[in-house]
Amino acid sequence: MKNRVQALVGAQWGDEGKGRVVDVLAGNADVIVRYQGGANAGHTVIAGGKKYIFHLLPSGMLYPNRICVIGNGVVLDPAQLKSEVDELSPAPSEIGTRLVVSCGAHIVMPYHKKLDLLSEAARKKLDSGSHIGTTGRGIGPCYVDKYNRIGIRAEDIVSPKILEKKLRLNLNEKNPVLEKIYRESPLEFDEIYEDACEWGRFIAPYLGDSTLEIDNALRDGKSVLFEGAQGTLLDIDHGTYPFVTSSSCVAGGCSIGGALGPGRIDRVIGVVKAYCTRVGEGPFPTEELNDTGERLRQGGAEFGATTGRPRRCGWLDLVALNYSVKVNGLDVIALTKLDVLSGLDELKVCVAYRLNGSETDIFSNSAEKLRETVPVYRTLPSWKENISGCRKFSELPQAARDYVNFIEESTSIKVGLIGVGAGREDTIIRDF
Ligand code: GDP
Ligand code: IMO
Ligand code: MG
Repeated sequence: MKNRVQALVGAQWGDEGKGRVVDVLAGNADVIVRYQGGANAGHTVIAGGKKYIFHLLPSGMLYPNRICVIGNGVVLDPAQLKSEVDELSPAPSEIGTRLVVSCGAHIVMPYHKKLDLLSEAARKKLDSGSHIGTTGRGIGPCYVDKYNRIGIRAEDIVSPKILEKKLRLNLNEKNPVLEKIYRESPLEFDEIYEDACEWGRFIAPYLGDSTLEIDNALRDGKSVLFEGAQGTLLDIDHGTYPFVTSSSCVAGGCSIGGALGPGRIDRVIGVVKAYCTRVGEGPFPTEELNDTGERLRQGGAEFGATTGRPRRCGWLDLVALNYSVKVNGLDVIALTKLDVLSGLDELKVCVAYRLNGSETDIFSNSAEKLRETVPVYRTLPSWKENISGCRKFSELPQAARDYVNFIEESTSIKVGLIGVGAGREDTIIRDF
């Protein structure tokens, strides 16, 4: 079968519409895998007139019979997972047969969330330009512990003795930081331990070996879809450091957090919003801090699915997109929210950057350089028609087709799927 293993990634700063594209593709996939990030993600799916926001569960969960895997690269907040499982209509016993949580996923503990918030507040107080604007979900501190080799993994919370030992070790390090650096009260062992044992009882039926699960599925001739979270420009290595998340959001992250050798990935899909948004701090060359930005925010309902924060909005940045094409090795683009551009007087796309008096089409992920960057725009014709009823590329107005063609010419990548509305059916599938 062609494209049996697909990796889907966000090509910008997150919230590109990954959840809705996964929802469309999951109809033809057997196994859907979240491979990194945690409940900082908010993936919206609108199906059957109902809205679902997934933070940890893979967005393929809505289809019956799909195996949904939470890989070892994910940082897992068990209380959040429980609320998502509870919210889904099928009985948890049915979910138990098709949700697999890797034993090696790291657990987000209460001190991670606390340290996330305290660190952000302290940085903001010291220098208003140095905080990141995190989601407050404890992501950074949890990954710190993973790489510091003190983290608590999913397999640990189902073993009360191991949990006790690891939790004591952690509190022994965390409490002095809370007390001495942040002047906070220390955390009590008993309360966290009891909660974690409870999470262990909840998670036990889902625990498994995600590496084997994926390998066995492939041996059985099944197809696998990796569901990226966040976006390329938020990647810890390739994003606009330090204004990034703490994980590998790019396609390469699938191999580590989803345990599949890179050579086994057949196709990389980049989800691209027809304009750009960013939540939190950090440079954003094409940001429109004016009526255009407000029009995009209102038209696209650009408010965070996890925190409710208004998203910063601006024009499509092809310099950044071409960087994303390279870093991920994109094979095809899924373009979302084209409908949001309907009715604008003109459309601008950034085709180069001006920096220190010269022009370049090369993206630098240096936050300092990006801040100095001035976008060079090409203005493209706009269209007035409402395109949300279009189901074929040929039904789009000429200017909308030209916009899509311009993206293809500028990136040398085919736009295979186009979103013209938030619902599952609001999709133009073109050669996908
Ligand atoms: P994700 O994190 O990448 O899954 O994206 P989010 O769910 O955070 O944000 C995308 C938002 O855009 C959600 O509210 C979606 O329902 C919505 N959306 C996705 N695709 C389209 C589209 O083609 N048109 C419109 N109008 N909305 C879309
Ligand atoms: P999805 O999967 C958009 C941003 C935060 C902040 C930075 C670091 O829905 O696209 P963190 O809490 O991860 O330490 O925050 O990363 N961020 C996201 N922005 N979409 C996301 O996920 C994000 N996950 C994290 O706003 O700027
Ligand atoms: Mg989101």
